[in-house]
Amino acid sequence: MEDKLLLIPGPTNLTPRVREAMAGPQLPHVGSQFYSMFKETVALARYVFRNEKGVQFVFTGSGTIGMESSVVSLVAHGDRTLTLMNGYFGHRMLMLNEVHGAKADSIDHPNGGAADPDALRSQLQKNNYSVVFITHIDTSSSVINPVRELVEECQKAGVLSVVDSVCAIGGVPLDFDRLGADIVFTASQKALAGPPGAVLVAASQRAIEYMEKRKEPIESYYMNLLRWKPIMDDPRMYLATPATQVIMALREAMTEVKEEGIENRWARHQRLGEMTRNQVEEWGQRFVAEEGHRADTVTSFWVQKENAGEIQSTLEKEHGIMIARGLYEEKDKMLRIGHFGMLNTDTLRGALDALDLVMKELGAVAGGVKATTSDRKR
Ligand SMILES: Cc1ncc(COP(=O)(O)O)c(C=O)c1O
Repeated sequence: MEDKLLLIPGPTNLTPRVREAMAGPQLPHVGSQFYSMFKETVALARYVFRNEKGVQFVFTGSGTIGMESSVVSLVAHGDRTLTLMNGYFGHRMLMLNEVHGAKADSIDHPNGGAADPDALRSQLQKNNYSVVFITHIDTSSSVINPVRELVEECQKAGVLSVVDSVCAIGGVPLDFDRLGADIVFTASQKALAGPPGAVLVAASQRAIEYMEKRKEPIESYYMNLLRWKPIMDDPRMYLATPATQVIMALREAMTEVKEEGIENRWARHQRLGEMTRNQVEEWGQRFVAEEGHRADTVTSFWVQKENAGEIQSTLEKEHGIMIARGLYEEKDKMLRIGHFGMLNTDTLRGALDALDLVMKELGAVAGGVKATTSDRKR
């Protein structure tokens, strides 16, 4: 199968090293080789989260398992929770709260706005919330939230906070120990540039104690974080068979993160984000996210002619580059470019130039300008 350049907001292209790691020998998941490999993976996860104080989890599942295990481990039936929503994944978090019996309130920011710490503070004064759920970057809208300020409000109010950092960790600054959130999670296939299939969760000691002191037991076997805790120290204690190849590839991917240096990686993503935003501005397209709240890992913009599908398929057919459309009802109106993982600025420049040609060919830039010969030579 031909390799394409994936500029979708996950999964991302894998380096040869990461791909090779998946093709290694099959290891017994309770044996000593996997044990030492797994311990290294957890240590690398601590590095990418900057988590020395909390408990670090790595287990098999997609990002949604991170969402649901946070909800089910912290929220009991009838608890009042608050979800801050900036797009599709915030809505999913709210739905998970409802599924698990919470009295689930939400504050929605439907037009590309970020959550406001002052609004959160006043909402927290109105009700006795047990947990606040925050999306770091909502991949559907590309909105990045002021996570530090939001978590600070939760801390001041004595409320637990959970941060969905699936589209953020490895691409934008996050320091779990300093942030003070109670649970932060991500998935292997986004800015960490691993294959899909592993979820990485950091939990504060406070969150662990809260789970241990719950009156009602956690209503899940697989998504009960307390069950996974001892496995993180010794994966030879069997809970469920891990996707060993995925874990091995994730270890390799996070080794690459460490070799690059997490701060250099954040800086590289900032350049990728800026480059993409400059191009969107040049096209005169409208961003989905408000200014000041646009993420460095994914960029979403509206396509006036509502021909997002045509642009997407032409770019793939003519240039072998895949970008994403909006989700569900936004699918014709919105394009989303994922710019994270091991992507470098040269590759992104080439891809944006190709997209520029396609956009002009299809009359999709503001004003519907068709490509000219000089445009094509850019
Ligand atoms: C912000 C965010 N949260 C959660 C998820 C769910 O992750 P997964 O699709 O791996 O289950 C995604 C997926 O794109 C996401 O972008």
